[in-house]
Amino acid sequence: MHTLLQSKPTERAVFLSNHFETRASHGGGTEGYQGAVSFPIFQTSTYQAGGEFSYSRCQNPTRKELEHTVASLEEGAYGFAFSSGLAAVSSVFSLLKAGDHVLISDDLYGGTYRLIREIWSGFGIRFTFADLREPERAEGLIRRETRLIFAETPTNPMMKVLPLARLASLAGDRGILFAVDNTFLTPYFQKPLTLGADIVVHSGTKFLSGHHDTVCGFAVTSSEELAKKLGMIGRTLGNAAAPFDSWLALRGIQTLPLRMEKHASNAHAAAVYLESHPRVEQVFYPGLPSHPSFELMKKQATGAGGVLSFLLKDDGVEKVLNGGKLIRFAESLGGTTSLITYPQTQTHASVPKDVRERIGITPRLLRLSLGLEHIEDLLEDLEQMLSRK
Ligand SMILES: Cc1ncc(COP(=O)(O)O)c(C=O)c1O
Repeated sequence: MHTLLQSKPTERAVFLSNHFETRASHGGGTEGYQGAVSFPIFQTSTYQAGGEFSYSRCQNPTRKELEHTVASLEEGAYGFAFSSGLAAVSSVFSLLKAGDHVLISDDLYGGTYRLIREIWSGFGIRFTFADLREPERAEGLIRRETRLIFAETPTNPMMKVLPLARLASLAGDRGILFAVDNTFLTPYFQKPLTLGADIVVHSGTKFLSGHHDTVCGFAVTSSEELAKKLGMIGRTLGNAAAPFDSWLALRGIQTLPLRMEKHASNAHAAAVYLESHPRVEQVFYPGLPSHPSFELMKKQATGAGGVLSFLLKDDGVEKVLNGGKLIRFAESLGGTTSLITYPQTQTHASVPKDVRERIGITPRLLRLSLGLEHIEDLLEDLEQMLSRK
């Protein structure tokens, strides 16, 4: 039996508290598993017939608890946990059919771009990439077949901030679905469903899990109709999160509020430092007053997050990337330790060069994800990295 109720937050989770911190630390609030306070890992593929669960591709208690938790944090009614962020994005695209059209932000995670180019375009779905910061201009790109507007905000890696409420009404007025990738801010800082989005997606690999030790993804909605379809898609494609990964994500989420505060304060301090560094041309961080969408950011989110990008004035990127003693040169973001990433050859390698350069992903662009280290150590490391030429 796979009823929708399996993905709906329990009453206990909903009424436990209105405070985000309490809901994060208590998770989905399911009780009754031998009194275990840490929610158990149900490492089973199948279940004796006749109970709530039948087969773990379809549902698993640990995954269900995680889905309740993430839905509750996003203030949505139904959550779905997937094997990766891209599995979540792909499941949202699975709501479409050949002939449908999608309007999507031009600056977005390179893997999402590859997913579109290599897979979904081949199935007859059409995509228009556009700068969605100006919904009035984006409006002209809407077609009769447009079924979905998909936005990341802040965008990866240029940290553009898109106006969520305005995009939601642009979509809503025309019966178009509006989906938002909320990976960079998490519901701790931004809740797109409360601003009119229909679906929120996440790379749960990043801040939500938060420890660089698992890969997973999420979709959350408040629409029963969309939930029925997303549930069917997950069960049918078989791309749901495994029990152990679900457990790691559940454990990570318990400390999400504390971590997000620290990630954001470290990112802010690093952004201020980099902005005054003689080797740095420009810093892209929406928590800085110099960011063109600083005011919008403050309006639709309660924090600017733990990621920034910056542009070097010279070509000496290699020594900077490899020079960190604490800050490691690696893909990904949102974990306990700081990472520096080179979008051109890592996260955005599959985006064609001309598109990359139009967006601003040039050979001098670096992305930094601030971890939980002491800020003095991070600034010292940045200082010595930037002294290498
Ligand atoms: C904004 C964003 N969305 C989606 C993804 C894909 O997530 P995953 O790597 O968990 O598949 C990423 C990965 O970096 C990302 O940064």
